[in-house]
Amino acid sequence: MEQYAIKGGNPLVGEVEIGGAKNAALPILAAAVMTDETVYIDNIPDVRDTKVLTRAMQSIGVMVKPEGRHRVVINAAQIHSLVVEDDNIKKIRASYYLIGALLGKYKQAEVALPGGCDIGCRAIDQHIKGFKALGAEVLIEHGLIKTRAERLIGCNIYMDVVSVGATINIMMAAALAEGQTTIENAAKEPHVVDLANFLNSMGANIKGAGTDVIRIKGVKKLHGSEYTIIPDQIEAGTFMFAAAITKGDVMVKNVIPKHLESISSKLLEIGCEIVEADDCLRVISSKPLEHTHVKTLPYPGFPTDMQPQITVALGLSKGTSIVTESIFENRFKYVDELTRMGANIKVEGNTAIIDGVAKYTGASITAPDLRAGAALVMAGLAAEGVTVVDDIHYIARGYEDFHLKLQSLGAQIAVINSERELQKFKLKVG
Ligand code: EPZ
Repeated sequence: MEQYAIKGGNPLVGEVEIGGAKNAALPILAAAVMTDETVYIDNIPDVRDTKVLTRAMQSIGVMVKPEGRHRVVINAAQIHSLVVEDDNIKKIRASYYLIGALLGKYKQAEVALPGGCDIGCRAIDQHIKGFKALGAEVLIEHGLIKTRAERLIGCNIYMDVVSVGATINIMMAAALAEGQTTIENAAKEPHVVDLANFLNSMGANIKGAGTDVIRIKGVKKLHGSEYTIIPDQIEAGTFMFAAAITKGDVMVKNVIPKHLESISSKLLEIGCEIVEADDCLRVISSKPLEHTHVKTLPYPGFPTDMQPQITVALGLSKGTSIVTESIFENRFKYVDELTRMGANIKVEGNTAIIDGVAKYTGASITAPDLRAGAALVMAGLAAEGVTVVDDIHYIARGYEDFHLKLQSLGAQIAVINSERELQKFKLKVG
């Protein structure tokens, strides 16, 4: 089992290139099956979740041909099955995007119920409500969501909770429905907008993405397209907080600063300096970190996917901070691991009360999920001594070359496979 070994203490300094957004790439890959014509997609991050999804697409006959590391050519003219049961697909949340995509195009789909990171109850009632409102029957049987419709007819759908996944799924199915669909209380995340732009580039008629009312006029069919995915807001935010926590000076390149406003404003509040240019942001952390309070919210609020990273930084800030998680109820599982590194954090329900400590100390810890895993690596980078992080396969779900990018900024981090390799790492870093 691979682990990360980290020797903390080096400030991260330099430039880092941010890749394409995982959470935009996943629905865009799925939506590429909605046309029989060829689609070219650029800036796909080379991470585990996109690989699992493309393999599942191949299993039903979709041609997915990589051209280099970040570009694929997709043609879905030869789909031979509408049942997606690939063993791995259950492990990723985004598998359910194939339901909206296939239902829209073929009026039928059967997909294994999704898994994903264990960060709390991950209901799908809003997806089902949307499919039903469009006229589909939905059945959950033998671990599959089965859906079928004679016709999909546009309608008004009010979302009871703001859901990225449900907004995306309904948007895909409605793009090929008859008449107009209105989604109210829609998610406004940049990846929702990116998918709408991609569908529009294939001939869909979607307006209002990025606001809480999305209007979709169904079209008869979609055509081929060439599209480039937006930069990953969460990868960028992770490196920005890594700069903050290590007292570093890092330029994150290839970002859309507007997408990072909630993250930048919290970094300013805790005492970092931010220098913004067109498509890059520099984070300079030269003063002791200050405390603050934060509540995760749907976009444009502070992202739940950055909650562990800010908590790790606040754990080293002066004074008491409060972090409230309002999206997923089980997203503080990493706090026990952080406590083993010396953090003073008390979790009560969906709130973490953090009393900043002067330092973390290296320990053997386990990544409980993707973002928490990245955050624990950051804690290791700031800690005194050596930290070993287990279960780093979670991190590979959503970060491309995570340790290589950190190394290029001066971090002492390596992938190890055994106790012997750990000893070698310790000798090397002194
Ligand atoms: C997406 O998950 C992301 N995943 C998550 O990123 C992210 O944390 C989340 O959005 C919130 O931003 C992908 O894009 C693949 P939701 P999703 O539907 O779509 C409740 C990462 O680290 N809900 O917006 O599953 C739900 O329980 C991952 O990259 C319902 O009640 O999230 C949650 O409390 C982890 N009924 C809230 O809504 C539903 O039908 C938001 O979930 C759907 C959701």
